Amino acid sequence: MYNSKITGLGYFVPENVVTNDDLAKVMDTNDAWIQERTGIKERRHVVKGGDTTTTMGVKAAKIAIERAGIDKDDIDFIVFATLSPDYYFPGPGVLVQRDLGIKTVGALDVRNQCSGFIYALSVADQYIKTGMYKNVLVIGSELHSHGLDMTTRGRSVSVIFGDGAGAAVLSREEDNSKGLLSTHLHSEGQHAEELSLIAPGMGKRWVTDIIEDNDHNDESFYPHMNGQFVFKNAVVRFSEVIMEGLKTNDLTPEDIDMLVPHQANLRISQFIQKKFGLGDDQVFNNIMKYGNTTAASIPIALTEAWEKGKIKEGDLVVLAAFGSGFTWGSAIIKW
Ligand code: UT7
Repeated sequence: MYNSKITGLGYFVPENVVTNDDLAKVMDTNDAWIQERTGIKERRHVVKGGDTTTTMGVKAAKIAIERAGIDKDDIDFIVFATLSPDYYFPGPGVLVQRDLGIKTVGALDVRNQCSGFIYALSVADQYIKTGMYKNVLVIGSELHSHGLDMTTRGRSVSVIFGDGAGAAVLSREEDNSKGLLSTHLHSEGQHAEELSLIAPGMGKRWVTDIIEDNDHNDESFYPHMNGQFVFKNAVVRFSEVIMEGLKTNDLTPEDIDMLVPHQANLRISQFIQKKFGLGDDQVFNNIMKYGNTTAASIPIALTEAWEKGKIKEGDLVVLAAFGSGFTWGSAIIKW
């Protein structure tokens, strides 16, 4: 059995900055409410006709591949996590294979929303552990802005989400004390609709329903979130899954050098930081700049933390996420 190790990281965010004041011009909201409840100051939105979920993923992937010191032809498999694919089908994995000109390797799409990157990492890790693949490209990318209700009706969701992409190359590591030590995945479908986008889907036969019923302004065509319920579950599940990962490896919270939580809400990150007794330099947050970028949030944050020199060789790095599904997960990494 091998271990897998992150050998390259990259991220891409669109240039267009949308501040809280910009949002207040199109809906009944304000900078104070958004900052107080979420910590978000601004986010990035793709300008119409610009990047797509795939092109952002490709840009992040190119950086990660270069930093891994490998060629695109060394990639054995692609795993792409998103809730905002370019097409209903096929998923963006194959579009990345095409756009990067990678040979005909397998491409898998992961649909686990905010936990998508951890799920994707876990899948990639299993393939490397068994020896089947040597280098796996893992991408999380989201283009939320084109699908949000940018009116007052949608304000409790629309102010939170932003666009962007992050990518990692996971490579074979022969030393089992290094790299991904373990990943931990969970789901609880009982709460599926509490954070969901119901249409388009075959339950809501979208072409006929949109055209015949002219209900394209139906609320089910926009993401729905029962915010307080999601928040309460998030703080419990984040804590549980981090502890599960630590215990599996005979570690304690004191062993954590850097926690990179999914950027759902700064208040959630602060709650977890306090609960585990971590200092400000042991938790990395960038939700202030980018909002919640769902499957892209962990790889963007991880890349930024690494670029800023906050993650060093030998550090114990913990990744954790919770979101729609509900799904949640963690990854324990010896860098
Ligand atoms: O990434 C996946 C996981 N996601 C999460 O973990 C998110 C979890 N939830 C949250 O982060 C928070 O619940 C929110 C940030 C979404 C909302 O914060 P909240 O403190 O739970 O606010 P609320 O939904 O209870 O709304 C409080 C008030 C309401 O007004 P009334 O009924 O008290 O008069 C809302 O209508 O704030 C109002 N409101 C807003 N006001 C200004 C909701 N959205 C806005 C807004 N601007 N954008």
